[in-house]
Amino acid sequence: MPKTPDYFHGKTIVITGAASGIGRATALIFAREGANVVCADINESGVKDTAEKINAMGAQALALAVDVTKRAAVDDMIELALNGFGRVHFLFNSAGAAIRRARFLDIDDDLFDRTFDLNVKGTFYAMQAVLPHMLAHKFGVIVNVGSMAHRRGGPGSSVHYAAAKGAVVTMTMGVAREFAAEGIRVLSISPGPVDTAFQQASATSPELAKRMLDDVPMRRFGRPEEIGELVLFLCSDACEFMTADTIYVNGGGGWR
Ligand SMILES: NC(=O)c1ccc[n+]([C@@H]2O[C@H](COP(=O)([O-])OP(=O)(O)OC[C@H]3O[C@@H](n4cnc5c(N)ncnc54)[C@H](O)[C@@H]3O)[C@@H](O)[C@H]2O)c1
Repeated sequence: MPKTPDYFHGKTIVITGAASGIGRATALIFAREGANVVCADINESGVKDTAEKINAMGAQALALAVDVTKRAAVDDMIELALNGFGRVHFLFNSAGAAIRRARFLDIDDDLFDRTFDLNVKGTFYAMQAVLPHMLAHKFGVIVNVGSMAHRRGGPGSSVHYAAAKGAVVTMTMGVAREFAAEGIRVLSISPGPVDTAFQQASATSPELAKRMLDDVPMRRFGRPEEIGELVLFLCSDACEFMTADTIYVNGGGGWR
């Protein structure tokens, strides 16, 4: 939570992946705090639904159909956010996926490229699009999404995804340190298993789902809101000395 009670009131956040899971939960949490929320996702109907929920809460939302793997679309997203609200204070890059599970020797160029395009280039494009504006105001917080997978390497099912999330965590550190003296903070969150569509798709077998659960000492998956509240904290004035690092949220596990 922020130190200042109305800290988020009237400030604007752009959220990619806002149609579902962690992105949607975070959008609703920022709306609860009175922020304007630009909801972007490739899933047009889903993102409209999130925006309607926000409007019903009395906060302002803009729904944008955006494919984050396309630089021009991401540039437009920031442009439209600025046209709509005048400022962008925060960016949360939640759009991401493992695309599909594959053993290392079965990862082909197409799977590798699509995984990096979505998780790495999507995050890269959004940061490049918003940073000139944030730098002009000497203020901005960017939160990216890594994964516990980047510590474990994804053996047997998702080396492509783990490597992409490793790139996100490293890029976050570099951008944070490059702009640390200019009012910009950049952080990433590395969640363990969180109960979203992502997780349902990844749990291709009951055996894999059980193994993932057995890995979490709390014996449950995280809830998307438990990541969203952390995004709120990271963007707030309660942690202004925090930047560059990734924050692990995993119910005590995932280090196997
Ligand atoms: N759920 C987990 O267990 C878990 C764990 C670690 C990290 N993550 C990461 O958290 C983030 C959010 O995932 P989630 O669990 O909320 O999954 P989710 O599937 O519920 O949400 C992901 C969203 O990204 C959107 N998206 C996909 N491709 C896109 C594109 N090209 N352009 C724009 N939007 C696109 C989807 O439409 C979807 O709404 C992802 O980066 C994921 O890799 C999830």
